[in-house]
Amino acid sequence: MSFGRLRSILPSTAARSSDGHLVVGGCDVVKLVERFGTPLMVMDRTTIESHAAKIIAEVGDASRVFYAGKSFICVAMCQLIDGLGMGLDVCSGGELETALRAGFPGDRIIFHGNNKSADELEVARAANVGRIVVDSFDEIHRLAGSEMSTKLLVRITPGVEAQTHQYVRTGGEDSKFGFALADGVALDAVRRVLEVPGCTFAGLHAHIGSQIFDLGGFDLAIKRISDFAAHVLDELGAQVTEVNMGGGFGIQYVEWEDPLPLQEVARGIAQDVKKEFKKRSLQEPDVFLEPGRSIAGSAGLTVYTIGTVKERAGGRKFASVDGGMSDNVRPALYGSSHEALLANRVDAKDDGIISIAGKHCESGDVIIPDAKLPANLSVGDLVCVTATGAYNYSMASNYNRTPRPPVILVADGNATEIVRRETIEDILALDVPLPR
Ligand SMILES: Cc1ncc(COP(=O)(O)O)c(C=O)c1O
Repeated sequence: MSFGRLRSILPSTAARSSDGHLVVGGCDVVKLVERFGTPLMVMDRTTIESHAAKIIAEVGDASRVFYAGKSFICVAMCQLIDGLGMGLDVCSGGELETALRAGFPGDRIIFHGNNKSADELEVARAANVGRIVVDSFDEIHRLAGSEMSTKLLVRITPGVEAQTHQYVRTGGEDSKFGFALADGVALDAVRRVLEVPGCTFAGLHAHIGSQIFDLGGFDLAIKRISDFAAHVLDELGAQVTEVNMGGGFGIQYVEWEDPLPLQEVARGIAQDVKKEFKKRSLQEPDVFLEPGRSIAGSAGLTVYTIGTVKERAGGRKFASVDGGMSDNVRPALYGSSHEALLANRVDAKDDGIISIAGKHCESGDVIIPDAKLPANLSVGDLVCVTATGAYNYSMASNYNRTPRPPVILVADGNATEIVRRETIEDILALDVPLPR
């Protein structure tokens, strides 16, 4: 039975109703579908808050946990994160403007990106953004001319290959992000950051990748950052007072995955940084983290309606749904995996292996190639794909001119639409016809 099998992947408030429907945040998902239609994204507020609380408890101060907005951001999400007293990591002008629209305080925002434009930096300056993670020499040049007054962190690539998909590894020497420790490049970056007028060098940043299960990569990165902090002090006389180890904590997407508890990961990293600095007789730094997926991922579900069911000669059964790679590009982009259950029949035996296909004009648009689902599923059943809260809506596109789904925040039996459904009119509004 899918509900029991997938319990640990579902949002923490997931339950089943007496008539066999999936319930999340006290809301019957079938009723949500009647109200909002499909495809539908549902985010469980309690799960978001409890994940955040686990990390904050280990870091010791909510403002040192920057929620990584790239995983899922909209005005309401920024308001929710602000309400928890957390910081917010933005990596583009669009994310920054979203935060500002939500009234998110600038001093709790950290701004990333390997190509921040002069215009984006100007928005950051006007909003008094608290921290900027410096990523290139060109950016240092731009900052020097920006009249900015903020804390600067230097992003380093510690030469660590995290055990994850190559597209979400960011800590290797040939990454597009940050400054390599090799050849004195990072030291040169710190030297130049120290000279940026009006700004303060606060410390170092490293984010080694995403969906990481093995903490070995973090251990090594922390050792290298600590060595480098000692080098910075020796060579430049500058103290590293802040160390930001990014995010990347792996979550469970499929039945067999067994990530370390979030508290353990956050505690391990925070303690390790302090221990390694102490070993080198360095002043204890403030430790910052930037979790995205581990806060939003398993809080989210995507509900689709099955429109066609087809059996191929080789025996493969396809159930095609009314969304796909436009609302969840991760399987096509990273080969990533998901589980699914039927929201209208959570207790049905999952005795079939079904390919859940999207409706887009791409053979690769298959959300789950081999989902365990009831063999008798049929047109009209509601397929609920689990753990879609992170990097789904935020990476959504209008491929095949498909409007993006709405996002519904559920809590205590209330459903609040926090992103409305896009319409074809929204899409067409950007088109400029040729003059006749
Ligand atoms: C700099 C930085 N910080 C934080 C994150 C969040 O990572 P995750 O969502 O895996 O926690 C990312 C994601 O790629 C990132 O690039």
